[in-house]
Amino acid sequence: MATELNRRDWIRSSALIAAGLYAVGLPKLAKAAPASLLVPPRADMHKILADLPRMQARLTSNENPFGPSEKAKAALMEAVNSGNRYPRDSVMALRAAIAKEEGVSEEHILLGAGSSELLLAAALKYSSKGGSILSADPTYASLVRSAVDVGAGWVKVPLTKDFAHDLDAMEKKVNDDISLVYIVNPNNPTATITPSDKLRSFCESVSKRKPIFIDEAYIDYVADPKKQSMVDLVQKGQNVIIARTFSKVHGFAGLRVGYVVAQPEMVKELGKYTNGAGNLSATSASAALASLQDKEFTKFCVQKNQEAKDFTYGVLKKEGYTYLPSHTNFIMFPLKMNGKKFSEEMLKRGVGLRNWEFYDQQWCRVSLGTMEDMKLFADAFKQIS
Ligand SMILES: Cc1ncc(COP(=O)(O)O)c(C=O)c1O
Repeated sequence: MATELNRRDWIRSSALIAAGLYAVGLPKLAKAAPASLLVPPRADMHKILADLPRMQARLTSNENPFGPSEKAKAALMEAVNSGNRYPRDSVMALRAAIAKEEGVSEEHILLGAGSSELLLAAALKYSSKGGSILSADPTYASLVRSAVDVGAGWVKVPLTKDFAHDLDAMEKKVNDDISLVYIVNPNNPTATITPSDKLRSFCESVSKRKPIFIDEAYIDYVADPKKQSMVDLVQKGQNVIIARTFSKVHGFAGLRVGYVVAQPEMVKELGKYTNGAGNLSATSASAALASLQDKEFTKFCVQKNQEAKDFTYGVLKKEGYTYLPSHTNFIMFPLKMNGKKFSEEMLKRGVGLRNWEFYDQQWCRVSLGTMEDMKLFADAFKQIS
């Protein structure tokens, strides 16, 4: 009910703004207004840069405080020596290793400078002929934002009461206008998971009609990644695109490596919207190859993340707060005060985090850092909660 109200309010406010634009004689802009005004805006880079020095605990962007691994750093340093050469061999070696890991051929893999590049490629491809992106709301906005910026529409479906994707409602929205279905699992910003059996049968049915892009940025943090991942659907030949990133469990947010697993024809199509094998540096590709093989390190990161999560759950409970069960390296919880004010007060105490507003509720999303970071969070939170 609250969700319905929210959606109506949004639609009404964008319609009013659109009407205002007509009044000042900008019919073209007015026509584009609803979809673009509904998507959350891009992050304000000036504000982020201004806030960074104030953060003793940087819990804004779901980064991994332990990465990159020592083995990845050694490989990166070694690769500097061949920095004068184009990185074809290191990029191809990484592609082959990822293909082996995912149980597909190299032709099923497309690399990107972070998965953002590949989300952008999909956004551009699936808005080039108009149409709309179908996704949950709230979800990670990057792909939808890019598509809407170049003229696509956005069809959004609220999450279920358990904060999973409402796959039945989404399937009902699939029509000729939908060019791509975008699913983030586990979801960002809610950290919640959509059950794999339901998602698998949704993909089975819907991928016959429309391509489905599944963003698995946080899949390494779930209890059983192999079972939860939809990569087996690619192996079975279905029209699904799986996106992964090294930014999270590998701690590569600054090194920029991501990839998609998809049908070879789809890899070729999406590749037209990237810079091809030239998009990765030799240093990043070599470091990613070393990190992929360093299973001890990723296991260590998942374990540390769980410790930080359990500690933070305890802090929230003790202060009388609830939270959404997290399957990722961040936690989303409802606030009892204005979100902006809360973030500002936490930042004054050296803790950077993010606030959200959806379903008529103010929320905080806090990334899980080191135990030291989470103790800082706990001390600051106790003061203002
Ligand atoms: C769901 C999701 N997808 C994609 C990305 C982009 O990651 P990157 O471009 O660093 O690979 C992020 C980043 O936080 C994310 O949360």
